[in-house]
Amino acid sequence: MKVAVLGAAGGIGQALSLLLKNGLPAGSELALYDVAPVVPGVAVDLSHIPTAVKVAGFGADDLDAALVDADIVLIPAGMPRKPGMDRADLFNVNAGIIKTLAEGIVRSCPKALVGVITNPVNGTVPIVAEVFKKAGTYDASRVFGVTTLDVIRSEAFVAELKGVDVSEVKVPVIGGHSGTTILPLLSQVEGVTFTDEEVAALTPRIQNAGTEVVNAKAGGGSATLSMGAAAARFCFSLVKGLQGDSNVVDYAYVAVDNGDAPYFAHPVRLGKNGVEEILSYGELSAFEQKAKEDMLATLNKDIQEGVDFMAK
Ligand code: NAD
Ligand code: LMR
Repeated sequence: MKVAVLGAAGGIGQALSLLLKNGLPAGSELALYDVAPVVPGVAVDLSHIPTAVKVAGFGADDLDAALVDADIVLIPAGMPRKPGMDRADLFNVNAGIIKTLAEGIVRSCPKALVGVITNPVNGTVPIVAEVFKKAGTYDASRVFGVTTLDVIRSEAFVAELKGVDVSEVKVPVIGGHSGTTILPLLSQVEGVTFTDEEVAALTPRIQNAGTEVVNAKAGGGSATLSMGAAAARFCFSLVKGLQGDSNVVDYAYVAVDNGDAPYFAHPVRLGKNGVEEILSYGELSAFEQKAKEDMLATLNKDIQEGVDFMAK
């Protein structure tokens, strides 16, 4: 198994690479790419951890070498938010970065599973898809927006509110990855019930959790450690699927035919080819149904921005 992390020297990249060094199956390779000159040092640092995962660092000019034969590519490259910014404010600077990196994937590992972390995810995933379409290498089942952070936050917040064992809590989260497009399905959490007041308070807390971190870091960036944990968890699901486990279900922002929007976070069954099946998110409560309808205009606008960027 070869996993490439693009943006590996950043806050997310380093946390994620550490977790992958410790958690990928023995015999795996970890390729760390970044334009920051510290990246070879990050690789040397990690290589001193005694696990059977080989690590190599690749600098600015070595994108293609980092990507060659990768099975999975995770992309946390790009600028994070500062207080007062929306994720959409990152589009102008991060769109070009994502395009360049996706072009590298086309050249070096067109069959890889690609997990996009760079914000705004609602628009960067369509950019990756459009780059692949242009090159004739697009396979919708291999491109994912990583929304696992919304899922793990929901698990943490529900466990805290209800005083239950966090390892038992499962919270479906659908939609996109910004503000109201993040829709936790609290009505489907097994083993606990919520009052209307709890739903009305917890839903926006989950939707604004990224801003909670941005404000707490006071100009020092956005979530990195929890995102590293989230991306590692998602990567391990992809790995299990690639290894032939046919029972891996996780949530991700994927292309959907005839769905609520062209891209929408759904439960997906993973396998050797990435998404084997897009599963239904089931029945929504009246609150969730309205929240879903209300967010679609924003989500569609974010998606269109990504598509339009590539049409220029
Ligand atoms: P960071 O600034 O700490 O790290 C970003 C890294 O990307 C830096 O090391 C930088 O050198 C590198 N980089 C920039 N341009 C590059 C290029 N062309 N090729 C390779 N590397 C490049 O930022 P961070 O906190 O790690 O956040 C990274 C991105 O992830 C941001 O866009 C942030 O908004 C996003 N994010 C997404 C989620 C999510 O849930 N999907 C969660 C948190 C953060
Ligand atoms: C998050 O949800 O923490 C990330 O999308 C980063 C951000 O800008 O909030």
